Amino acid sequence: MKINLDNKMVRFLVQEYVNQICNYSTDNDLNYNTYKLIHTFQVVEMAQILIDKTRPALSEKMKKHILDAALLHDLGRCHEFKNGKRLKVDHGKIGAKLIKKNFPQMKTEALATLFHNKLPSRKDPQSCQPVLDYVRDADMLANLKYQSDDANMWLVRILDSEDKSFLTPVIDKEIFNAVKENRPVKCNKIKTRNLLTMWLWELCWFFNLRTTVGINYAKKEKIFIKFKKVIMKKIVPLTTLKPRKQKELTQQIQTAFPDSLFLK
Ligand SMILES: [Fe+2]
Repeated sequence: MKINLDNKMVRFLVQEYVNQICNYSTDNDLNYNTYKLIHTFQVVEMAQILIDKTRPALSEKMKKHILDAALLHDLGRCHEFKNGKRLKVDHGKIGAKLIKKNFPQMKTEALATLFHNKLPSRKDPQSCQPVLDYVRDADMLANLKYQSDDANMWLVRILDSEDKSFLTPVIDKEIFNAVKENRPVKCNKIKTRNLLTMWLWELCWFFNLRTTVGINYAKKEKIFIKFKKVIMKKIVPLTTLKPRKQKELTQQIQTAFPDSLFLK
């Protein structure tokens, strides 16, 4: 990955993040902002992959909108921490506001940023399509791909976490309901926010994918199957030391999420 600071949007984004990183209060916000900055460029890379694989090819204007929106979509993330504490804020809204203020001509990118972190619905503004769909898909696929590829780095971050109740061997019912009904997870129906549930929630992102190219790429690269294996091999053992419980959990996951589900 190589970052080119000649581009004024890249400069603005990097400056916003580096200012937060240099003024960190705790390891949590230092790690979070550093990771989110790296994640941003991984999403840009993924968006480029999806653009390159789209046939018939997208117009040059549309490609630029998608790449710029991918670059700016998590601009609001670096304002989620204050004095080391994570705030309950909508990073899509914060990012859109910053884009409107600093790049007023980028209306499509601001709108895509505002909606990228909400579930796809009929309320999605059509004026920023297909940019919004590409950014959402690139965002999910980049997250899953790099979390699978760098699972050990992720585990260090998790084990460093002070909240040990996060490591409970329980899967929220909404995960099973969503996969049974072949639909995205409904955020307000999740009652147990633990590590296992959160990673399985990401596995359900398969039902959130919107672009044909994103769906085909996920199948060809086995993105979701690889991610499921990481959950079974690395996340499940973190939640319980009991071999019987581990076996029961992996069987539950395997039954609910057979490989064939992600190849349909
Ligand atoms: Fe993102």
